[in-house]
Amino acid sequence: MTVRRWLLGPPVEQDLAPQGAAGVELLGHRTYVGGLWDEIGQLQFDFLCSRGLRPEQVLLDIACGSLRLGVKAIPYLQPGHYLGIEKEALLLERGLALELGPELAARCQPRLIADADFGFAQFGVQPDVAMAQSLFTHLPPRLIERCLQRLHPCLKPSSVLYATYFISTVPQRLRLRQPHDHASFHYTRRQVTRFGERNGYSVEYIGAWNHPRQQQMVAYRPLPQF
Ligand SMILES: C[S@@+](CC[C@H](N)C(=O)[O-])C[C@H]1O[C@@H](n2cnc3c(N)ncnc32)[C@H](O)[C@@H]1O
Repeated sequence: MTVRRWLLGPPVEQDLAPQGAAGVELLGHRTYVGGLWDEIGQLQFDFLCSRGLRPEQVLLDIACGSLRLGVKAIPYLQPGHYLGIEKEALLLERGLALELGPELAARCQPRLIADADFGFAQFGVQPDVAMAQSLFTHLPPRLIERCLQRLHPCLKPSSVLYATYFISTVPQRLRLRQPHDHASFHYTRRQVTRFGERNGYSVEYIGAWNHPRQQQMVAYRPLPQF
């Protein structure tokens, strides 16, 4: 496998850990979402607060995993104001039971949906702020655009989506055509700008935000009348 990596570059699917419930069971719910549990949870929460997140606002955590951000944000926000959507139901279950705990869950009423096709309309609420931390780093372009496209009608004019990316200086050849929770996709600044522009957003490139793996931050704001 090592020789193969040397010769061919980034891993291909058969070299990667399993996805889905089998992967969660094998790796555990913290490692599955990338580890660095406290550090990256706190980083996200501090970032959102520095950008003005207030308890009365509604936060949509896109690909919320096992609530790495949620354990910080849920007790801060007013009850029912944390919306989490995630494709792996088992991550949500583990996050609720083992990280947030039943008492806080009952008091803070987070709203969690297991859905892999970005069905944000199911919440029936327009979030003030959305966060997609290390989601687009695992998706090919068509799914990034699907997410942005489905989010747009669910936002209000003042809403903002913060999304992180691995940024490359030149376009990378896709080694995987399908998304993968344990593989990384890299995009150029021009590509991440075009993802937003094509789907009705103004794009602000924020860049470095102290992410330990150098993911960069981009803000997408819905353009009216798109
Ligand atoms: C690196 S983890 C980050 C999780 C979370 N944002 C955090 O910071 O802890 C990526 C997450 O994206 C989820 N994911 C991947 N594709 C998804 C999709 N189409 N819809 C919802 N979640 C998805 C994975 O299951 C995984 O939980």
